[in-house]
Amino acid sequence: MAHTIAGFAADALNSLSASQVEFLQRLPKAELHAHLNGSIPLPVLRELAYEFLAENISNPAHDVALPDLVRTGVEQLQRGVVLGEIHQFFALFPAIYALTSTPDALRRAAHAVLGHFLSCSDGYPQAAYLELRTTPRETPSMNRLRYLEVVLDEVEKYPREQAALIVSLDRRMSPAVSMECVEHAIYLKKGGRRVVGIDLCGDPKAGNMDEFAQQFRTAKEAGLGITLHIAETEDCPAAETLQLLSYEPDRLGHATFLDEAAKKIVHTKEMCIEICLSSNLLCKTVPTLDDHHIRYYLGHDHPIVVCTDDILPFRNSLLGEYALLMAEPPLGLGLTEPEVEKIARMGMGCRFGQ
Ligand code: IMP
Ligand code: ZN
Repeated sequence: MAHTIAGFAADALNSLSASQVEFLQRLPKAELHAHLNGSIPLPVLRELAYEFLAENISNPAHDVALPDLVRTGVEQLQRGVVLGEIHQFFALFPAIYALTSTPDALRRAAHAVLGHFLSCSDGYPQAAYLELRTTPRETPSMNRLRYLEVVLDEVEKYPREQAALIVSLDRRMSPAVSMECVEHAIYLKKGGRRVVGIDLCGDPKAGNMDEFAQQFRTAKEAGLGITLHIAETEDCPAAETLQLLSYEPDRLGHATFLDEAAKKIVHTKEMCIEICLSSNLLCKTVPTLDDHHIRYYLGHDHPIVVCTDDILPFRNSLLGEYALLMAEPPLGLGLTEPEVEKIARMGMGCRFGQ
């Protein structure tokens, strides 16, 4: 089932010539920053919503507020989400989570996300390699370990060279829960399952980052890669950014508002920056493409990888994000084919699962 794109990425893609689009399609691209529940193709989400509503409306034992939440949430995603600011973005997830709370629904969502990125459309896949990330959730029908096993079963239907899993910790998690998630990740990795890293995500205003030190140390010692959403908004305190950098991550999500001290560490340690252009524009953490921090990192020849973040609310695609690199300003950054090729190569070089 097709995922349609709109907005910045679509405008950039539509402005390219057929040969430029083919150049981008042929390029082996790594998708290293895609959240499972934010990447469900809309037709699949609608199917899950339809089934959910049919079951819940006829079952008075279920939570009466949930069907309304789901209906409103799916309608909003269908219309296209317009965000005033980033914190409104996190309000979209309770409706989506209601639809991926059973092992079967989660399996179908994971199957569709992997298919979107890795199956060929127009002869080419969106990504040559996908590191999918997700936050293990406990629901009435699954514990967190089962959640991860369900997703891994789908990830491992693809060869190792194509797909792997990153376990996300949400900033709101208690220390006990985040440690439990890390322990599951290590247990699964030791058992030969394809877990390659740990992520820190969630509302940048939430949580106490002191409480994650031991979790990242334990994960690193077990050989897992570390990626952290960092300095995503202007309000993220500089001290918190330095603290997160002290956990020695390999990659950073967004890294939009780094001060000079943080930039120095990032350069010295060559931490790869996961760049999500549409996400930043739509969440209004970056005013225009021209102001985007990608220019700074490109200017400093610093490793980056271009990614989608959440194709469901942002209605983008990996191809569309690459189109943003190549389209002429103001629709894109106007980079040349060799420059775009170099970025794609850098992205492949930043994989955890190499
Ligand atoms: P999940 O981890 O598969 O459930 O994917 C959705 C979750 O990813 C959301 O609930 C957020 O916690 C997280 N997420 C998605 N996009 C972002 C982002 O741009 N910043 C921080 N967290 C995010
Ligand atoms: Zn993200």
